[in-house]
Amino acid sequence: MTLTAKGPLVVSTPGELRQLVQGCEVALVPTMGYLHEGHAALIRAARAAVPDGRVVVSVFVNPMQFGPNEDLSRYPRDLERDLRVAGHAGADVVFHPQVSTMYPEGFSTSVTVSGVSEPLDGAARPGHFTGVATVVLKLLNMVRPDVALFGEKDWQQLAVIRRMVRDLNVPVEVRGVPTIRAASGLALSSRNSYLTADQQARAAVLSAALRAVQGAFAAGERRREALEEAGRVVLASEPDLSVDYLSVVGGDMQEREKVENDPMNRVLVAARLSGVRLIDNMALIAPEGPE
Ligand code: PAF
Repeated sequence: MTLTAKGPLVVSTPGELRQLVQGCEVALVPTMGYLHEGHAALIRAARAAVPDGRVVVSVFVNPMQFGPNEDLSRYPRDLERDLRVAGHAGADVVFHPQVSTMYPEGFSTSVTVSGVSEPLDGAARPGHFTGVATVVLKLLNMVRPDVALFGEKDWQQLAVIRRMVRDLNVPVEVRGVPTIRAASGLALSSRNSYLTADQQARAAVLSAALRAVQGAFAAGERRREALEEAGRVVLASEPDLSVDYLSVVGGDMQEREKVENDPMNRVLVAARLSGVRLIDNMALIAPEGPE
């Protein structure tokens, strides 16, 4: 098997993958496909991390991280488009396994990260982060990358993966890549494709709410309740929105009554617009720097 100039090579088994990356420096970008500019930014960062190595993008809609009433069957899929986006952004290999390759008959192991995976999305989507941690560990074991890149849009997911990698001594460097946003402020997500253009415009209320919290923090507010209220007022301006949570948390995903000026502090939001669940988050950093 050789790499061609025509675009990324698509492989579907761990054996083929190992042949392509053996002896190379490797960067992995795990995705569920339907790639957009946010994924392209991850792939470009991967390319920059291993300029002479191999960039592997996995495209796998992982059934284990979807709850029984979630959108697994309708999750958007378009491999042709994924290959174009991945190739343009600098990927060498796209790993596109079958469900039966990842979860063969008899599969009975899962990875549960306690603590950081429990509040917020962990509470709203029981089992979700166990599905994420399990598939990510499998991908890391199959690809054995030097570096793995994840979007900061899924901030709690990034915290869960970092915890798992530390706790299980997985020999990989985990890097977070900043969220890419539409001009409206809406964080790019494959699930935005469920929304009409008008709904996407209205979904920008999530980022507006986060900016309101950032503004209150920058203006000196340090009480968590007051910060969260600044965001909730903005969310309330969109009648079609049903809010799961808007929470200010530290790096451990726990709330504190007084929010210090710490780069790990974030405000996270999850809400449904016309039934589509969206998440977003932003850092809370005061303009004058750490206190
Ligand atoms: O962020 C995602 O797209 C997924 O949760 C991931 C990390 C690829 C695991 O399936």
